[in-house]
Amino acid sequence: MLEAGLALLPVNVNSNLEAAWKYHNTTKHSVASVLNNRHFLDWDNRPLPFKAYTALEPLALPREVRQTGVAALSAIAESIRTDSSAIPDVEALAQLLYLTAGFTRHRKYPGGDIHFRAAACTGALYEVELYVVCGDLVDLEAGVYHFSPAEFALRRLRAGDYRSVLSEATAGETSIIHAPLTIICTCIYWRNAWKYQARTYRHFGWDNGTLLANLLAVATALGMPAKLICGFVDADVNRLLEVDPDREVAFSLVALGHFAALAQQLPSDLSAIHLESVPLSRNETVYPAMHEIHAASSLRSPEEVETWRGNAPVNELPPPTKPIVPLHPYSDAEMPRDPIEQVILRRGSARKFAQVPIGLPQFSTMLDRATRGVPADFRDKQGTQLNDVYLIVHAVEGLDPGAYVYHRDRDVLECLKTGNFRAQAGHLGLDQQLPADAAADIFFLADLQMILERFGNRGYRAVQLEAGILSGKLYLGAYAQHVSATGLTFYDDDVIRFFSPHAHGKSVSMLVAIGMNAKSPL
Ligand SMILES: Cc1cc2nc3c(=O)[nH]c(=O)nc-3n(C[C@H](O)[C@H](O)[C@H](O)COP(=O)(O)O)c2cc1C
Repeated sequence: MLEAGLALLPVNVNSNLEAAWKYHNTTKHSVASVLNNRHFLDWDNRPLPFKAYTALEPLALPREVRQTGVAALSAIAESIRTDSSAIPDVEALAQLLYLTAGFTRHRKYPGGDIHFRAAACTGALYEVELYVVCGDLVDLEAGVYHFSPAEFALRRLRAGDYRSVLSEATAGETSIIHAPLTIICTCIYWRNAWKYQARTYRHFGWDNGTLLANLLAVATALGMPAKLICGFVDADVNRLLEVDPDREVAFSLVALGHFAALAQQLPSDLSAIHLESVPLSRNETVYPAMHEIHAASSLRSPEEVETWRGNAPVNELPPPTKPIVPLHPYSDAEMPRDPIEQVILRRGSARKFAQVPIGLPQFSTMLDRATRGVPADFRDKQGTQLNDVYLIVHAVEGLDPGAYVYHRDRDVLECLKTGNFRAQAGHLGLDQQLPADAAADIFFLADLQMILERFGNRGYRAVQLEAGILSGKLYLGAYAQHVSATGLTFYDDDVIRFFSPHAHGKSVSMLVAIGMNAKSPL
């Protein structure tokens, strides 16, 4: 219903930036907005945490996790060049899916069981679903598949090679054309909005992003080129997956692998397939603000996609004017080499930090490795980012406690102010203890106006997604060194005030706290 209404919107809806600003401003947290929010969690109406099709047979995936032996700190920092031409096998696909969205831990709570997954997710609500669109792989026939983490299985929604639908929907994006397989991430509104209401649309970017950090790292470890695609004709991808776009929408695509021969351009029969799935809850609440920003950031033709991608705005911090401190990452020889598979399985959000310091090389290494760039269609130069990195340092050996901004191009921190800001950090992170006790709090801030001017409302998706990926890489960069981490939410304007005047005019995308776990040494 809502997506059909898109046809009535003016052609340049993506460039009407009021939509993104309206959504952003009305979903900011402030002390007053949190105090006045009467929302409560209706446990009896809690959404199902995974999508369950009623009729399709599951196709079990191989469960053995291959040990690539590739160091997590390399896997998060590098990507594979597109000169390989191997067709992935089903084991590699299973590995990618498991380490991206598989069940990794299980805990019983009075309200029921929670299956924790490979990547962090707001409220452990797991609103991101994964689909695979592939040609013939080794031991897997061409098709469109849904991944079920509960059964660790695929369900085939369409038989045959539908990659040409994605080539068209992405206006011939090169990585998609040459990809033996593409993973599509969709987001389900109600599954997360049950708790977070309209702010869930931001969570789409963050939670999809942490999951993509794993996916990109595992692809690198498997020697597979991978590229994140944010620009596509929304309605065409949703139709391919036969999702109900009032409830579930395609949010990002990752082209995986590279095969020199072009994908077969078969005529794509996109007849409706009417797939039933179990309702998530007894009833669902619609938060129109999210549907409005989604519609306003949708791209509606390959031509629009083509003009949308690339040519990211130049995002350079002004040269430092305050004292600078050089970072000291480990050399390649000194770098901890814990493999990516182990680090992903070890990861879990810190629930309590000990107020003890971490080393400067550890800290420098995670910052350096996590921010080396994301291969994406909204970035034309590897290493450049939409988000800037601001930090509150509490306990890092060799650094004065204080507020900093990271100049990646110079590998230095610029000190904006010194002091013990534990209490302020606790407040900024929504009055929680975690950011107060951490060794450091890392904020991603972006010049939203500049990004929206270049990418339209779709830039809002890209900037949240990138912040989620960088945060996911930070998680992995921390756990690779036996340091702990957690994503956190925040009081938007208070964060900007804290880092101003330097951060004047920017908006907060995400926050990650890192430090030593108080409960168990990792
Ligand atoms: C974007 C983001 C924001 C989060 N915000 C908070 C938060 O404000 N407070 C908190 O205690 N945990 C927060 N978390 C941690 C999640 O609760 C945690 O990821 C989830 O329960 C799954 O557990 P796991 O990360 O240990 O697998 C956040 C995680 C993410 C990815």
